[in-house]
Amino acid sequence: MSKGMTEADFTPATAAEVRQLRDQLDAQGKKLVFTNGCFDLLHAGHVRYLADARALGDAMVVALNSDASVRALKGPDRPLNNENDRAEVLCALRAVDVVVVFGDERATSLIEIIRPHVYAKGGDYTVESLNAEERAALQSVGAEIRILPLVPGRSTTATIQKMHSPQGGKLRLAVLGSGVGSNFRAIVEAIQAGKLDAEVVAAISDQKDSGFLAIAKQAGLPAHFVDPGSNPKKLGEAAQKEIFDHLERARTDVVVLAGFMRILKEPVIGHYSGRIVNVHPSLLPKHKGAHAVQDALDAGDAEAGCTVHLVTAEIDAGAILEQGRVPILSGDTATVLHDRIKQVEHVLLPKVLNEWRERGLPVR
Ligand code: GAR
Repeated sequence: MSKGMTEADFTPATAAEVRQLRDQLDAQGKKLVFTNGCFDLLHAGHVRYLADARALGDAMVVALNSDASVRALKGPDRPLNNENDRAEVLCALRAVDVVVVFGDERATSLIEIIRPHVYAKGGDYTVESLNAEERAALQSVGAEIRILPLVPGRSTTATIQKMHSPQGGKLRLAVLGSGVGSNFRAIVEAIQAGKLDAEVVAAISDQKDSGFLAIAKQAGLPAHFVDPGSNPKKLGEAAQKEIFDHLERARTDVVVLAGFMRILKEPVIGHYSGRIVNVHPSLLPKHKGAHAVQDALDAGDAEAGCTVHLVTAEIDAGAILEQGRVPILSGDTATVLHDRIKQVEHVLLPKVLNEWRERGLPVR
């Protein structure tokens, strides 16, 4: 399939045709770049990414997810444009030489047939978080893997988001928690009471049997358990990506960490920068980390409290949005003090979220 065709003529290429192109290039000492994706609603981020990817070689093939595979990846409302239209639009770009449509969840078999010289992928992945099967296929055909930075603030999901919730609409919250979920309950109750103009579009936990998930299920909210991986303290790469996918699918405005006891990394932390809040049971910057309440007692502090802050890659160090104070009383145990702190958290967190737009914090 080449450029300059009329709509009626348009058919995407077959894998075998692309392989022929690859072999011709190879014989000339030139390189074929391969990238894949859904490319549902083309935006400047796509165009710039594709131009950067094309610059890595001498011709580029885009492997385009079929309609069925987009549905499986992005949910039942997608794609917005069917695969032939998506292929035709892509093919009209200067950076794209050829488009091939694939229906499998993975591009593995295409990679094996086409044997590209370079494989390019958008920067919400790392080489490690690429699907293991695809990575093995790329390694076996000797393809160079290149991760390119995403263009910030541009995404199909963001565009759809803007169309669905113009400014003034409800804030779409994804809440993450690991524990009993009292803060989550406070958010749900504030919404029900009309004190928080928001909706919970996803409740995500790394603990299958947590009170947090039970609250979500009881309230009929979309509840997701994400297997954190084998390390009891860390959140594995696959889990980081799975959480990101849940957030994207739910068209999340703001990510709320309500007692989520693992560290979020890429792609969530970069993609949702400025839109992730955490509630922490200390008066930050005092007592960062997982034992803040006990640390306040051990330090002999006269008061304790909680902080709602933005989340950055550095733990408990993002911009402070709001704090609440409680006294430390003689005879306090960590449990008693923590309960007193939580009473304040339950008011503070919904309040900060409700003021989100007034504060001018970014919403896509
Ligand atoms: C809350 O007190 C929150 O501040 C804390 O976990 C508790 C969760 O309680 N978060 C952290 O310690 C994060 N470093 P909950 O499950 O009842 O909402």
